[in-house]
Amino acid sequence: MTDFTQQEASYRELANSFREELLTAAREAQISAYAPYSNFSVGAAVLLSDGTIYRGCNIENASFGLTICAERVALFHAISDGRIDIAAVAVVTSAPKLCKPCGACRQVIAEFSQAGNPIAVLSASLSGETSLETILDLLPDTFTLL
Ligand code: THU
Repeated sequence: MTDFTQQEASYRELANSFREELLTAAREAQISAYAPYSNFSVGAAVLLSDGTIYRGCNIENASFGLTICAERVALFHAISDGRIDIAAVAVVTSAPKLCKPCGACRQVIAEFSQAGNPIAVLSASLSGETSLETILDLLPDTFTLL
């Protein structure tokens, strides 16, 4: 598999070239959503710098605050596999309008972003509208400790 870290393409360009694969993976993940309380199913897909894709769905709980978003499930899946080279995060819902990652997920995405090459964020609505931004666009002035 090609190692995209060797190329000069930004993660935004890489995400654009994997657009269809990312959206298909996110749609597949959405089918597994556990969302009996909100009935709002979300699917996410994380693209690594070598083209590997991890998936995630939202998982709700009767104790509502324990619910976890699809984006964080996909990210934590990659991280727990030792993959920290996150290039992009895609998110899909069944809403007619675009839904972009919530504030908590933006902060988590920012945690794994590199200064010179911010993680790309791809969102798609049911009607096919898409947006491709970077995490810096969505969360400027990110909180950091280091
Ligand atoms: N949700 C996500 O999965 N991602 C977001 O970025 C925002 C919201 C989920 C959480 C909950 O299960 C449902 O959508 C409704 O808020």
